[in-house]
Amino acid sequence: MKLTIFAATGGIGGHLVGQAIAAGHDVTAVARNPAALPAAVRAVKADLATAQPAALATAVSGADAVLSALGPRSRAEYGIASTGTRAIAGAMQAAGVRRLVVVSAAPVGTVASPRRPRPPKHDPGDGFVMRHLLSPVITAALRDLYADLALMEDILADSGLDWTVVRPPRLTGRAGTGAYRTACGRNVRRGLTVSRSDVAHLMLAVLAQPETIRKTIGIAN
Ligand SMILES: NC(=O)c1ccc[n+]([C@@H]2O[C@H](COP(=O)([O-])OP(=O)(O)OC[C@H]3O[C@@H](n4cnc5c(N)ncnc54)[C@H](OP(=O)(O)O)[C@@H]3O)[C@@H](O)[C@H]2O)c1
Repeated sequence: MKLTIFAATGGIGGHLVGQAIAAGHDVTAVARNPAALPAAVRAVKADLATAQPAALATAVSGADAVLSALGPRSRAEYGIASTGTRAIAGAMQAAGVRRLVVVSAAPVGTVASPRRPRPPKHDPGDGFVMRHLLSPVITAALRDLYADLALMEDILADSGLDWTVVRPPRLTGRAGTGAYRTACGRNVRRGLTVSRSDVAHLMLAVLAQPETIRKTIGIAN
């Protein structure tokens, strides 16, 4: 497939690029610093914090699917998931490219957003420990990050694109196992962590799973 990968120099993004090349895909990789990309990709330079319609049009034109692991490197960059994803979705709409897979986060199903002002209090996949002990603490600490991701999910829901949102819990740098668990429309029960490599694996796998279109997918090791 012809794939365009955003945030290609990030943790998950790097695994996406490596796994996509290994699987024989034709990869266009978008990054702020394309010098950090492997030689096997077509590199496009773009900073998604600023409007770059020409670069984004070049990046997505002719793609069969687009994958994004965009997220903030620091608190100063909170807001980039929604801002950047809005730009990616707009470029895809203009180019007639429909399939988009992005990374969100496990707690986002319970975070209010303009489109969903009264979300469920608990994710149906979360058990007692996550509901009552971990989730309230994590959600309070990362409120602004999750608000940005919830807005990103709103943008996708309104986009008309064939999107899939992957919602991982805490990410780790462990080696990918390929033996992760998934759950459609909810988090994975007792799923506290997942490796970045396995998140990338799932993002590529859902491209062959049309039943994941317009769905959120929980994942955990
Ligand atoms: N950490 C966790 O435990 C956790 C848990 C659940 C969900 N998540 C979500 O998963 C996301 C991905 O995780 P990760 O570990 O792969 O993150 P990461 O390594 O920090 O990668 C973030 C990527 O976004 C890119 N980016 C940021 N601002 C950009 C901009 N203005 N223009 C273009 N690219 C920009 C970065 O580009 P550069 O390479 O140029 O910096 C980087 O490639 C996180 O951002 C978070 O939203 C994280």
